[in-house]
Amino acid sequence: MASRTEAVPRHAHIVGWGMAVPDRVLTNDDLVAMVDTSDDWIRQRTGIVERHVVDEGESTFTLCLQAAQSALDVADLDPDQLDLIVVATVTPDHAFPATACLLQDALGARHAAAFDLSAGCSGFVYGLSLAADLLIANRYTHALILGAETLSRITDYSDRNTCVLFGDGAGAVVLQASQTPGGVLSSVLGSDGSGGELLILPAGGSALPASVDTLAARQHFIHMQGRPVFRFATRTMPDAVREALKQAGLAIDDVKLFLPHQANDRILHAAAQGLGVPTERMFSNLASYGNTSSASIPIALCEAIGQGRITRDDLIVLIGFGAGLTWAAAAIRWSLPLPVPTPTRRMTLWRRLRYRLAQIRSMWRRLWRRIDARVFHILYDRNGRRKKRPSDD
Ligand code: ACO
Repeated sequence: MASRTEAVPRHAHIVGWGMAVPDRVLTNDDLVAMVDTSDDWIRQRTGIVERHVVDEGESTFTLCLQAAQSALDVADLDPDQLDLIVVATVTPDHAFPATACLLQDALGARHAAAFDLSAGCSGFVYGLSLAADLLIANRYTHALILGAETLSRITDYSDRNTCVLFGDGAGAVVLQASQTPGGVLSSVLGSDGSGGELLILPAGGSALPASVDTLAARQHFIHMQGRPVFRFATRTMPDAVREALKQAGLAIDDVKLFLPHQANDRILHAAAQGLGVPTERMFSNLASYGNTSSASIPIALCEAIGQGRITRDDLIVLIGFGAGLTWAAAAIRWSLPLPVPTPTRRMTLWRRLRYRLAQIRSMWRRLWRRIDARVFHILYDRNGRRKKRPSDD
């Protein structure tokens, strides 16, 4: 019998998910008009047919907001109950504040800590692993983890080596701690910074601040050496999967579906071969979205659920690799019955109203900050000392 002081083990379960991609579609034929390429080359070498890209007024944050709202709807969770928001991205709206903080404000998640995480295309699995550990350690109960990118903003549409690959999108999951066994069973995170220059945004950081020269040299765009990254991916993915499964005491044959980072269909085929599994067990949606970096795995998860490829008690494995170089894998026992019930009209209306209230709250806080500054200016001097009033004499 467990003693009173013995802690009951906690588990981190995915209880909500959502995705968003911009409406605008960029097809292979559109790219043929921009660079020396062909629909045939792109399909044969990558598996990509089209990708979604943002328009003016859209950003990583706007995609995050849509994906997060969908995930919270599925989880039927009030944003007030969120303890943590993590946005994995290499294309945040700003270097600071974090896109996660913009999201915290827009959702009205008043009790959530929020930060961005940069781990290239492995970012979502890094975030999931970190959040799951915090939930299991009894630090938090609910976390929202997103992978979101607007790579089109840093893609050089005159470089055929990269511009055919990338797209924009966001995916989100809600993690919930409970005593029910299952959920995130294990995870493996790795890095090898010696390969940093293989996949890099050279300028705009402290090493090479933005200047007329960096702009002229097109250093604010993705620079990638495709072949070594390809080799790195095909070698790393099977090892990371084996390690994550070993940690969970499971075997490759136990896995129903692998959800890999969507970079290239040929990489997915090579990884399937390396693991000795049929390619059909490696989920791919490259044709529709291209490489959306940290967003690709949560988007793949949403689509796999939508296609009925995941059911309760299935074992799934998420696999990431990318800039850093980084890699990550997580084994998850799916614990939620599917499909989830459709929300009533009343619930939908209440949720919309909730986000409207969050907007009003945000506006009020901004206004209050201005009033506060004005009052402070009247009452206190520059050093924070109370000004003398005539009545003080
Ligand atoms: N259209 C036509 N020809 C092209 C194109 C194009 N879009 N791009 C390259 N080529 C040419 C090259 O110039 C080269 O020509 P050459 O032989 O005359 O020199 C030829 O095609 C072959 O080029 P490779 O680079 O060897 O082509 P490869 O088969 O390796 O495919 C690719 C390139 C698709 C980039 C592949 O290497 C790849 O997918 N790499 C991994 C990318 C990746 O996974 N990135 C990871 C994460 S991204 C992130 O973290 C943000």
